[in-house]
Amino acid sequence: MNTPLTSPTDAAVAVPKGRAIEPVASAMGNAASESTAPSAGSNAALQNQGTPDSPRDPKRVTTRTLAKMRSTGKRITMLTAYDFPTAAILDAAGIDILLVGDSLAMVVQGHDTTLPVTLQQMIYHAEMVGRAAKRAMVVVDLPFPEGQRSIDRTIASASKILKKTRCHAVKLEGGAEQAQRIEALTTAGIPVMAHVGLRPQNIHVDGGYVVQRDEDRLVNDALAAEKAGAFAVLIECVPSAIAGKITAALHVPTIGIGAGPATSGQVLVVNDLIGMTSGYLPRFVTQLADVKQAITTAAAAYRDSVRDGSFPAVSHEFK
Ligand code: KIV
Repeated sequence: MNTPLTSPTDAAVAVPKGRAIEPVASAMGNAASESTAPSAGSNAALQNQGTPDSPRDPKRVTTRTLAKMRSTGKRITMLTAYDFPTAAILDAAGIDILLVGDSLAMVVQGHDTTLPVTLQQMIYHAEMVGRAAKRAMVVVDLPFPEGQRSIDRTIASASKILKKTRCHAVKLEGGAEQAQRIEALTTAGIPVMAHVGLRPQNIHVDGGYVVQRDEDRLVNDALAAEKAGAFAVLIECVPSAIAGKITAALHVPTIGIGAGPATSGQVLVVNDLIGMTSGYLPRFVTQLADVKQAITTAAAAYRDSVRDGSFPAVSHEFK
């Protein structure tokens, strides 16, 4: 049974997204050791090296890297990204997975829910992120209702994402009820990260952002997603003990948001992490920078310097 949010504390838990970022543990060595080392000089070697933005790059985080991180207990880091400069910074900082989340409807486009963002808009942003990421795996959300249409249509939408961007996988909300789609996508060569627990695309059915507490259903959803071929399962807004049980029941990595410390990795919305929000933060978010304040300070200083004539100075002029 899921508990509707009634107290400010619970409400703070349930609006998507976040928890503490683990210290970045670079998976580069890991990934490199997993790749088939080509013998130098041969044609096969050249073919296997790939380009810097291909999954053949030995530095690239892949489904295999993530599986190995899970089995060796190395925590996985994941953040959302929606544009080229932010994605390039997060990639260079060693974040393992960049998620072009449909949360962009809320944090970039200013909507109240994730529902309005379209497939075309997701592809527009995914293309920028895919171009920036040199090491991270890039996962793209299937926006509402692309993951709820016929299986053929879902495959068409997901393959459009992979064909038009340099991204590597899609994320699909749902567990047991999505098993057939997950299997069909994986069979078609499209890796799927499943998303169980709070599913923001389901907000109108659930009646709000509701913490998910139905342990049997959650474990069953995650197991069905894994059986269908999901390479990882994201768990959102679930009590820590249940997230721990799900993680123990699975072989694939779990990535938590508002799901406690027992998952294989953590994900946050980058805007929450860096303080680039309208102000409200769910209680499971850790804000580690104050970009909104930095922009406000810079804009005010610029405004004052233009008004008082101190900008542009002589050093800014062309002679
Ligand atoms: O769209 C999104 O940002 C998500 C979160 C759970 C990270 O799916």
